[in-house]
Amino acid sequence: MRVIVTGALGHIGSALIRQLPVFFDRPEILMVDNLSTQRYCSLFDLPAKGQYEFIQEDVRKTDWDKILPEADCLVHLAAITDAAGTADKPELVRDNNLGGTTAVTSACLKHDIPMIFPSSTSVYGSQNSLVDETCTELCPQSPYAESKIAEEILIKDFVTKGLKACICRFGTIYGKSVGMRFHTAVNKFCWQAVMGQPITVWRTAMDQKRPYLALSDACKALTHIIKGNLFGGSVYNIVTENHTVREVVETIQSFIPNLTAEYVDHKIMNQLSYEVSANKFKNTGFAFTGSLKKGIEETVKLLRNARA
Ligand SMILES: NC(=O)c1ccc[n+]([C@@H]2O[C@H](COP(=O)([O-])OP(=O)(O)OC[C@H]3O[C@@H](n4cnc5c(N)ncnc54)[C@H](O)[C@@H]3O)[C@@H](O)[C@H]2O)c1
Repeated sequence: MRVIVTGALGHIGSALIRQLPVFFDRPEILMVDNLSTQRYCSLFDLPAKGQYEFIQEDVRKTDWDKILPEADCLVHLAAITDAAGTADKPELVRDNNLGGTTAVTSACLKHDIPMIFPSSTSVYGSQNSLVDETCTELCPQSPYAESKIAEEILIKDFVTKGLKACICRFGTIYGKSVGMRFHTAVNKFCWQAVMGQPITVWRTAMDQKRPYLALSDACKALTHIIKGNLFGGSVYNIVTENHTVREVVETIQSFIPNLTAEYVDHKIMNQLSYEVSANKFKNTGFAFTGSLKKGIEETVKLLRNARA
């Protein structure tokens, strides 16, 4: 098995490249990342059971004709992912994310290589009920989510031309990895709580439900797609559970009792609560086993000696 992972040094990629040898026998793993987020540490101590090769390159400039033909599949994780931090930078996000996905998808179509694209449940934006993949009223709240929709449309168009692809709408990831980042809700709150900073909750968000995904479930889901050959062009919501911010904060509080919260405004926050159903993916035979409590516990433990 030869798998190409773009964005391999990121939060999800650094876990996936370590999990692939658990699910496949001595896989060849070709990792492409431009190091824009400087996660050198993601390449530390890779397990001997994997056969690794790293290419430091922008996916928009990679010579795909050279490296794709030998691959069995490609997992396209490379993207600018700080949705809040890039709220004022739509061109940057579009050039990098849609530009990268266009390059990768065109090459996968040309060489007939199946690909997995991680979209995001943030494409649903403001909804007021339980949503599934049939929802057509997408309400993206950021350039990041807008770009995800444009990338999904591009991939669906390529599927009509013969591309083998799977589009996953991931919930917000929690859980530790070597290359983890702390922009997203659960990880950011854990960081703030450990550091003795107030947890910054968007003013409207405390009792809003949002979809979350354990990193362990994300890696398991990606291998489930590869093993089950789920490359028929479908969209799947990949969500361990929906939680309110209050549930997240109270779970952190069970490990750090004296945390405080501060309400803040942000231009990409919205008023509505929504829940995302992952039944379609569960119906492919997948069981979510991650837990918010476990993810928070391991993240807090990682940082336990960071502040006396
Ligand atoms: N983490 C989440 O909560 C979450 C939720 C939904 C979807 N996703 C999606 O999953 C994918 C991976 O997310 P992550 O959390 O690991 O992100 P991350 O930011 O931790 O990692 C992304 C990696 O991509 C690399 N990269 C960015 N642009 C590149 C380019 N043009 N060429 C080569 N490398 C490039 C970065 O250097 C980084 O190592 C992204 O597409 C993201 O949108 C993530």
